[in-house]
Amino acid sequence: MSVAPAGPTREGWGSKTGFIMAAVGSAVGLGNMWRFSYVAAEGGGAAFVILYLMFVAFVGLPLLTSELVVGRMAQVSPVKALEKLAGPRWKPVGVLFAFCGLGILSYYSVIAGWTMRYTVDALRGVLPVDAAGASDYFGAVGEGTPSIVTHLIFMAITITVVTGGIKKGLERTAIILMPMLFVILIGLAVWATTLSGGGAGYAYYLRPQLSELFNPTIITAAAGQAFFSLSLGMGALMTYASYLRGKDSLPKQAVTIAIADFSVAFIAGLFIFPVIFHFGLADTIGLGGQLSDNTVGTLFITIPPALLSLAIGKWIVAAFFMMLFFAALTSAISLLEVVVSAVIDTWGWTRIKAAVVFGLMIAVLGLASAVNLDFLSAMDKLVGTVLLMLGGLLTSILVGYKIRDQAEAEIEGGLTPGLRKAWIGFMRYVIPPVLLVVLAFSLPGLIDAVKALFG
Ligand code: TRP
Repeated sequence: MSVAPAGPTREGWGSKTGFIMAAVGSAVGLGNMWRFSYVAAEGGGAAFVILYLMFVAFVGLPLLTSELVVGRMAQVSPVKALEKLAGPRWKPVGVLFAFCGLGILSYYSVIAGWTMRYTVDALRGVLPVDAAGASDYFGAVGEGTPSIVTHLIFMAITITVVTGGIKKGLERTAIILMPMLFVILIGLAVWATTLSGGGAGYAYYLRPQLSELFNPTIITAAAGQAFFSLSLGMGALMTYASYLRGKDSLPKQAVTIAIADFSVAFIAGLFIFPVIFHFGLADTIGLGGQLSDNTVGTLFITIPPALLSLAIGKWIVAAFFMMLFFAALTSAISLLEVVVSAVIDTWGWTRIKAAVVFGLMIAVLGLASAVNLDFLSAMDKLVGTVLLMLGGLLTSILVGYKIRDQAEAEIEGGLTPGLRKAWIGFMRYVIPPVLLVVLAFSLPGLIDAVKALFG
């Protein structure tokens, strides 16, 4: 059962590096840059980072391993995979995954569209340099027709990459963009060390206020962030692993992906925090609020005008948003691939037809987020937080209980017997209760977001 024959036409990754780059590309996204630094700022800086790291290690890593195991074992998209491995009752879970991909990409693409706009406008020198102007500017390009236009352009690029297939589309894009992303990111973090007053930023970021470690809101935020950032809970990495052949150690690859993802978020903080403190923005950013006026605000409203006051500012801002665009694109293609691979495997459509038809559907759904940021925020809470946790919960039940023996067989030499026991133990006894609690704590945020939408 562990090795199912791959369909004769089913493509695979060209190389192991290509797979890792693509998987890291999926994980590293807008979540690492704006979501992470913002929630970290609100969540007490270093305390949040510690909690986040714990969720990555004890919940994220075992689940990530499980997704890779299920995907490679099945050699088909999650919708088919769950049915094949666990029976027809599990098929709806695969369908839920595809719906999450659709839902997340619809608003993700809107934000990604802004990053393109900001890159171009920074280079053209038309971004406002004063705080009030920056806020008006974001209001003008973030919501309404300009936002629709950039969203549609971004979706067109994403669809184009996915129609290229695994090797020529996903893998090639990741191999080109990811190294560029790392170079820009490290360059920005190194540049930030030259800012006066940055020391307070590093201190806030790196010196924990221990009291915050026990704040349930922050614990929940850290868990949600770990999920979103690692692309967990909707079969994205399961889909990517279904294109893997061979018997390489999956836990090792899971560790590589998790470390790369954490490092990018962490290094992004090493850029953002000195900037926040150098320009005295801590108060502006520390105000509580919703995604629509604050998470986004940090990156798109508060930081650009501050940086633009420097001679080199234009280039720093352009490099920053271009890096965000690269990060967003390699994530967006994984979200679309979950949907596309499901459609190819279940209905037998061609890749091009699946990518174009479903890409357009997502583009249409995204119009709602492009014209209404409260809708965007509500989608992020519903699909990007609550449904992902539910998906993670179902995955842990699947691997921990339903197909445990097969999963253990698939992982074979990838883990020592002791670690294999620990992995299954986490899937059975630790992750489900933790996720139930975190889910319960996430519901109020969802309710607030829905209220804001209708209120
Ligand atoms: N991980 C990406 C980010 O941090 C977003 C993403 C891509 C994602 N694919 C996903 C999130 C699948 C959840 C599930 O921005």
